[in-house]
Amino acid sequence: MASDDSIVLRLEDVHKQYESADREPVPVLHGISLTIRRGDSLAVVGPSGCGKSTLLNILGSLDSPTRGSIQLDGEELAHLSEPELATIRNQKIGFIFQSHHLLPQCSVLENVLIPTLADTGRAPADASERARQLLERVGLGHRLTHRPGQLSGGECQRVAVVRSLINRPSLILADEPTGALDHSTAESLGDLLVELNRDDQVTLIVVTHSTELAAKMGAIRQLLDGRFVADNL
Ligand SMILES: Nc1ncnc2c1ncn2[C@@H]1O[C@H](COP(=O)(O)OP(=O)(O)OP(=O)(O)O)[C@@H](O)[C@H]1O
Ligand SMILES: [Mg+2]
Repeated sequence: MASDDSIVLRLEDVHKQYESADREPVPVLHGISLTIRRGDSLAVVGPSGCGKSTLLNILGSLDSPTRGSIQLDGEELAHLSEPELATIRNQKIGFIFQSHHLLPQCSVLENVLIPTLADTGRAPADASERARQLLERVGLGHRLTHRPGQLSGGECQRVAVVRSLINRPSLILADEPTGALDHSTAESLGDLLVELNRDDQVTLIVVTHSTELAAKMGAIRQLLDGRFVADNL
């Protein structure tokens, strides 16, 4: 197949079944094919348990498919070692998880800077300023030295969003980024994601139950029982 630089992600016939020694296998994804181009924005919607988080984890190389092919920027993920995958994740992908996974002993600012430490163990000089600006942007400029335990759930989620943006990823994978937020905070966070997509050409894949957030994306795909049910809603 001819290479096409505009393609960020290409999935072909991806299947996923969770296996464990003491339980029946759980089949979750049944043949997902998907092409994402640079600057695309996609909402993945569907009922609880249909495989959305599973798909997002596989897209971000945090989990591997049982069969099928996944290419990120033209590289077959199955051919890469775990350290190579870790480097790609850190440099290219911003993850926003369903739960925020902040480090309780670190301040807001420190949590945001963690992804910048991977190369040298020290945050680059401009990272702290970018972190402050982004935290200001999501309404947390006055919470820089607080710890996660001193914040509300929605505030923690906003910190996690800023952390996902700190390394200027080219791809953002967001799992229910606004699920824990009130309407106006959710709206401004959705706008921030849309702005990054529009102005910085950040490719965006968002799993959401919010029809409002989904409507802000360029395309919507519905997942049902591990398959996409329609090309475009
Ligand atoms: N590690 C695992 N081992 C076995 N089964 C799992 C595992 N992780 C998820 N599952 C099952 O796989 C199915 C899909 O889970 P997944 O988390 O992808 O759903 P989801 O669409 O993200 O749901 P939600 O909207 O509730 O977050 C569920 O039935 C879940 O119970
Ligand atoms: Mg989920």
